[in-house]
Amino acid sequence: MTQPSSQPVPAPSSSEFFAAFDALTPEQVRAGGTMKWSERPDTAISAWVAEMDLGTAPAVTQALHRAVDGARFGYMPTSVWEDCRAAVIDFHRDSFGWEIPERDMSLLPDVLSALRAIISRHTRPGSPVIVPTPAYMPFLTIPGTLDREAIEVPALRGDGASAPAWSLDLEGIEAAMAAGAGLLILCNPWNPVGRVLTAAELDAVAALSAKYGVVVFTDEIHSPLVLPGSPRHICYASRPGADPALTFTATAASKGWNIPGLHCAQLIASGEARARFDADPLCSCLPGGASILGVIATTAAFSQGRGWNEAVREYLRRTLEGITGRLSAIDGVSVTMPESTYLAWVDFSGALADGRITGAPAGFLERKAGVSMNEGVTFGSDYAAFCRLNLATGRGIADEIADRITAALA
Ligand SMILES: Cc1ncc(COP(=O)(O)O)c(C=O)c1O
Repeated sequence: MTQPSSQPVPAPSSSEFFAAFDALTPEQVRAGGTMKWSERPDTAISAWVAEMDLGTAPAVTQALHRAVDGARFGYMPTSVWEDCRAAVIDFHRDSFGWEIPERDMSLLPDVLSALRAIISRHTRPGSPVIVPTPAYMPFLTIPGTLDREAIEVPALRGDGASAPAWSLDLEGIEAAMAAGAGLLILCNPWNPVGRVLTAAELDAVAALSAKYGVVVFTDEIHSPLVLPGSPRHICYASRPGADPALTFTATAASKGWNIPGLHCAQLIASGEARARFDADPLCSCLPGGASILGVIATTAAFSQGRGWNEAVREYLRRTLEGITGRLSAIDGVSVTMPESTYLAWVDFSGALADGRITGAPAGFLERKAGVSMNEGVTFGSDYAAFCRLNLATGRGIADEIADRITAALA
């Protein structure tokens, strides 16, 4: 056994955490050598790829230290995998009220390898893939690598009060299904807009999936990052209308505890979908790609690292509220407060229209403001005026981001 899954590791108090995060400087985090900070100009504040500057839970580092000290670098013992499965099941029950049967869960090296395997082995050859946009970039590029067309279905826009600022275009999704699509990628919570989808939206998707026999790949990797005060995450597969034969859920601790480099994700499928997945040699070999250190870290995160995750979500909420407020106050810029994730989806249309920004906004703002974000057009062809801003950093750095963008657009 790796460690008992019932004992939380006490996290430092929120005030200790928050003071340490507040004090972070760009020089300090750049010295950490992460991908986020090592692949953009040294003069820029890095706010692009979805990594956090806030480290990980003490429970995770302690479990990894024990594993390294014990040279746990061999193949995966069954007990290590079983502990992880128990931790994932407990977390989903406690957090989202979803009781996952043990037999329905398997390991993966990462979420995207499951998406590739399911598109290629569980949908009609050549059938298009529906991607509600704006979408996490690989959702738009992976189908093409598998000889499939990615059909972009742009989100509906609302005022953020009487209707969500971003919501699924169910009619557009239905039209794509009726035209022969084989799979829908559902991203819930939704990167980059930060929405937590409602039961009504999930039920409508389930009804369409059943009507047209279309597989739903539901990516719930951001579910451990729902911000305090936001609606509770609802697992798509837990909805009564979701047909088990057409449903694959992928999730991981990698975003909520900042450990994507450790390579451990989970696939949940039941009934006929599980049987087909297990019977397919390409799919059934995926668990062997999960790393033992990733599995140990995932167990620690979901079982003993919840206190840290809770404190971090509160820190993120405060930072996001502050910075989205400051950015929205800039003429020609708008952004809505996300319900989950640490990502802000910023609309620079007004600043483009009046010429304060020329060309692609992320490139412009990297040069003129010294802030590196993701270019909106990589999330869908309708979003050339947007940037995705990663705010999982210290408040001082986040304020510097807002200062720099404000000054560049003055
Ligand atoms: C929605 C979403 N899915 C998947 C991933 C990548 O997951 P993995 O590294 O497990 O493939 C990310 C990473 O940012 C993401 O935001």
